[in-house]
Amino acid sequence: MMRRPILAANWKMHMDRAEAGDFIAGFLPRVEQASAVDIVIAPPATALDRVGAALEQSSVQLAAQNVNAEAKGAFTGELSPAMLREIGCRYCIVGHSERRALYGETSEGVAAKAAALLGVGIRPIVCVGETLEERETGRTHDVVGAQLAGSLAGITTDQATELVLAYEPVWAIGTGKTATPELAQEVHSFIREHLCGRFASAGNEIRIQYGGSVKPDNVAAIMAQSDIDGALVGGASLEPESFARIVQFDCPENT
Ligand code: PGA
Repeated sequence: MMRRPILAANWKMHMDRAEAGDFIAGFLPRVEQASAVDIVIAPPATALDRVGAALEQSSVQLAAQNVNAEAKGAFTGELSPAMLREIGCRYCIVGHSERRALYGETSEGVAAKAAALLGVGIRPIVCVGETLEERETGRTHDVVGAQLAGSLAGITTDQATELVLAYEPVWAIGTGKTATPELAQEVHSFIREHLCGRFASAGNEIRIQYGGSVKPDNVAAIMAQSDIDGALVGGASLEPESFARIVQFDCPENT
């Protein structure tokens, strides 16, 4: 099964509008040859319009970092799926471990967001991953399995191929400690089995990204694993040159 690689930048709470504009101006000329991969950029909400406008003539796609599952209403500070669609988002990250840990996001809430996004034609990037303590006590599969079951609860088999999964071991995020490619592959293959159990053969088409300290010099080895179809990149996506090297992970001069 050939799955089209998908490399996504998660800028988190970085980049003002001017910095975001400068990034895109520096990034697009560097990735003109990268036509065999999907490239996605998730700026903070304040830069969505600016980045979206700068990406218009390119194949790079815009993503949001969060959404509210409701269509409209009295939800101060929140943005609806249709609002994100209107501003040009084609993808949206949901259930990032920072949101699960810091803002009390539950798999049930993630499931509602993912279903609402699919309803307006935005592809959810659903994040799962274990903490160090969960890994060290042998609970990785239990934790990731429960996150998957909960977070994908509302998705139908027809919608499954629109999904993107991101496996992000919490202990590898922003720490410089990347999971070894073999360790990541072991969990990706567990996720693949779960997706095939849930969505039958469509599970083989769903792309699963790895996230956690992905850098230009480790991305090729990670991408070489059979069930790793992309990367969700935080820190190393903030410089145009660095993220451009990551999306061109298969270039010889990059390794
Ligand atoms: P990192 O973040 O690349 O800085 O580890 C990845 C993420 O949290 O998506």
